[in-house]
Amino acid sequence: MAVAPVSDRPAGGGPATAPVMGGVAPPPASPSTASGFLDSILESKSELYRGSREVLRDSYMPSRLPHREQQIRQVAEVLAPALRGDIPSNLLIYGKIGTGKTAVVAQVRQDVTRRTELASHITFIYVNCGNIDTPYGLLQTIGNTFAKGDADRIPTGWSLDRVQAGMRRLLDSKGGTVILVLDEIDRLVARSGDSVLYTLSQLNTELELARLVLLGISNDLKFTNHLDARVRSRLNEEKILFPPYDALQLQDILRDRAKEAFRDGTVDPGVVERCAAYAALENGDARRALALLRLAAEMAERDRAKRITPDHVVKAKNRLEQDIILDCCRTLPPHCKVLLYAILQACERRRNGVLTGEVYDAYRRLAERLGLQPLHARSISNYVSELESLGLIRATIVSRGRGGRTREILVDVPISDTMPALEEDPLIAPVGRPRSRGQLLLTNFDNPGRTGPF
Ligand SMILES: Nc1ncnc2c1ncn2[C@@H]1O[C@H](COP(=O)(O)OP(=O)(O)OP(=O)(O)O)[C@@H](O)[C@H]1O
Ligand SMILES: [Mg+2]
Repeated sequence: MAVAPVSDRPAGGGPATAPVMGGVAPPPASPSTASGFLDSILESKSELYRGSREVLRDSYMPSRLPHREQQIRQVAEVLAPALRGDIPSNLLIYGKIGTGKTAVVAQVRQDVTRRTELASHITFIYVNCGNIDTPYGLLQTIGNTFAKGDADRIPTGWSLDRVQAGMRRLLDSKGGTVILVLDEIDRLVARSGDSVLYTLSQLNTELELARLVLLGISNDLKFTNHLDARVRSRLNEEKILFPPYDALQLQDILRDRAKEAFRDGTVDPGVVERCAAYAALENGDARRALALLRLAAEMAERDRAKRITPDHVVKAKNRLEQDIILDCCRTLPPHCKVLLYAILQACERRRNGVLTGEVYDAYRRLAERLGLQPLHARSISNYVSELESLGLIRATIVSRGRGGRTREILVDVPISDTMPALEEDPLIAPVGRPRSRGQLLLTNFDNPGRTGPF
C-alpha cells in the first residue's frame, strides 16, 4: 500500500501550516490540516484517473493478457479433458516473477467457470502457499471448500490423519473434477517439505467420486530438484515455462492498462516506453512495470501536474529503488543492523568515509550501549563484506603511508532515509533520534503479502 508522506509540502507553494485566525476553520480543501491535505490529494487524483485506481493493482483482472495467448491456450489444453469428464494431467507452471503465471491461471479459471453448464462438475480451488503453508492448513482449506455448513467443516485441532479423512469425505460429497491451484508451491515445500504433496498426488487412488488435479505455480525453476522422485514425476506430468517479457511486450501490457486507468491525454509520450524499458532490464517483470506506472502517477499528483511525464517515471524509479534499499536494511541480521547504523552515524558525523578500525570501535560502543555482547572483529569484517555485496556501503583501499593500507568505508545509500528505517527496529530504537511522524517515506510496492486476482 502506498503511504503518502505527511511531511511533504504540497507542490505549488504555500506554507506547510496555514495560520488559523480568530478560531475560523480553514476552507475544507486547504492542505493546512490532515483532512484538508487528504481532500486536496484526492481531488487532484481524479484529474489523472478515469475511475478506480485498482486498475493498476495486482488484484485487478485485466480483460485480456497480451503476449500470453499461447500460454493461455496451453493451460486450457491441459485442463480440457476435465470439460469432457476425463481427468487432466497434473501441471506445473514455471517462470520468473511478474511473468503472468497467476494472471493466466486466473483467466483460464474464469473462462472455464463462465461456461457454467460445462463447469458444474469442475471446481477450482486456489491456494496461495505463501499464506497457507502447512499440511494441516492446506488439507483443511481444500476440504472446507465443499463443507455445506458449520457442522460439516474441518475445525482446527484434529490429528492430521483425521483432517485427511475429512477432506476425502468432503471431496467425494461433491464429486467431479477438482483443480487445485497451488500458487507459490515452492514456499509450501520450503516450509513443510513434500509429504503433503505426496498425499495429494496419490489421492485419486483413494477417492471414490471426485478426481483431484494439481496445478502448481512456481518462480523457483529448480524447486522440483528437492522433491521425492515419485512426487516429482507425478507433479511434472505437464509443464509450461513462462518466459520474461521484453520491453515491447511490456509496452503493450502497459498501454492497455494506462488506457483503462487514465483519462485521455494525461499520459505523455515516452511514459509507457520508459516504464517498460526499466522493467525489461529488471527481468521483464510486468508487476514492476505496473508499479512504476502507478508510482509515476503518484509523483505527478504530488506535483499537481495535469499529465504524467517521463520525468515522473524517473522519479518513480528512484523511489522504488530507495524502497528496495530500505526493505533490504530492515531484513538484516541484528548485529549487521547495529554495524550499519554505527557506520551511518559515523559517516553522518564526519560527512565523509570512515576507516575500518574506526568502524569496529563505533560498532562495539553502539552494541554495548544497546546491551548487546559485541561480536568479534572477524565476524564484523564478514558483515562489512555482506553490506558491501548488498550495495549499501562501499569499501575502498586507502594508503596510510609507510606501506600501511586500510579500508575506508563509504555509505552508498541516503543516510537521512536509511537511519529512520533502521530505527523502526526495537533493537535500534533506544539510540534513535526523535523524528516527526511521517518523516519516513514508504511506498512498499512489492508487498509480499499481496493478493492475486482470484
Ligand atoms: N500479459 C499480461 N497482460 C496484462 N497484465 C499482465 C500480463 N502479465 C502480467 N500482468 C500483470 O502483471 C502483474 C503480475 O502478474 P502475475 O501476478 O500473474 O505474475 P506472476 O508470474 O504470478 O508473478 P509471481 O511469480 O511474482 O507470483 C499482475 O498485475 C498482472 O495482472
Ligand atoms: Mg503469482
